[in-house]
Amino acid sequence: MPRHLLSIFDLSREDIENIFITTSQLKNRRNKTDYSHVLGNKSIGMIFEKQSTRTRISFEVAINELGGNVIYMNSRDLQLDRGESIEDTAKVLSSYLSGIIVRTFDQAIIEKFAEHSKIPIINALTDLEHPCQIVSDLFTMVENGIDIKKMKLSYVGDGNNIVNSLIGAACIFGFNLSIATPKGFEPNKDILDIADTYDPKIDLSNNPEQAVENSDVIYTDVWFSMGQEVNHEEKSIYFKNFQINENLISFAKNNTLIMHCLPAHRGEEITEKVINSNNSVIFAQAENKLHVGKAILKDFIH
Ligand code: CP
Ligand code: NVA
Repeated sequence: MPRHLLSIFDLSREDIENIFITTSQLKNRRNKTDYSHVLGNKSIGMIFEKQSTRTRISFEVAINELGGNVIYMNSRDLQLDRGESIEDTAKVLSSYLSGIIVRTFDQAIIEKFAEHSKIPIINALTDLEHPCQIVSDLFTMVENGIDIKKMKLSYVGDGNNIVNSLIGAACIFGFNLSIATPKGFEPNKDILDIADTYDPKIDLSNNPEQAVENSDVIYTDVWFSMGQEVNHEEKSIYFKNFQINENLISFAKNNTLIMHCLPAHRGEEITEKVINSNNSVIFAQAENKLHVGKAILKDFIH
């Protein structure tokens, strides 16, 4: 059975800490050491059913710099789009490739793909989770001096794939996670049920000011995830008090880190000023996707 990365719950604390060690080495030695032996001419497929700037390009560069070949597959170009089954597609691609990075909608799609695949499948975002993003973000926190086992992280905004994977991270590392969403936009119920089995320090509310109190990190994401861009005006009304702005940040610690996985919608979930503020590590997060992506590939692709 290949080892897949479909959910952040597929990783242990030790797995993630090992990824951090590899990431630091790869990051420090980039352009100084030849790492082309790591993937040594292996071919890695990428099936993306949604748009991507960071995840796609950082994984493509990572594969190239580790000596592998990228086969990017727009799902519309595959026979999948004409009704070929996920089972058959997974079986066939398993006989050509050494791993596949998948961005899709329903988590069930990637799970089915993995079930029929003989090679590792890596989740590059589904409606439910974005595990590679959160591992990368945890690395950015560590790099900025945060003790992730003891921190308080606040998430303000939509209860989406990002917060679902953050909930997993809180279970794995035992940190305090305070989540503020508008009523009706809470994180996924199944994820919260899994989280309950870890006895987590997770607080759910509809109060952003209370959520960010004493936070080491404030994290937000778009109000409209890919595939959910309907009823823009109507939904925005519920979210109007859930913007990361200077007033909200004044309720947190002075040196709280500001994080956002990007893409950002300035003036909606976050202001321009906060994105560009001294406490923002948003563009470091984007860069680290490359370095952490490499460490994940090194770990999972054999
Ligand atoms: N953060 C992130 O996953 O960005 P992309 O959608 O551009 O890949
Ligand atoms: N929640 C966002 C994350 C984008 C990286 C989305 O799914 O569109």
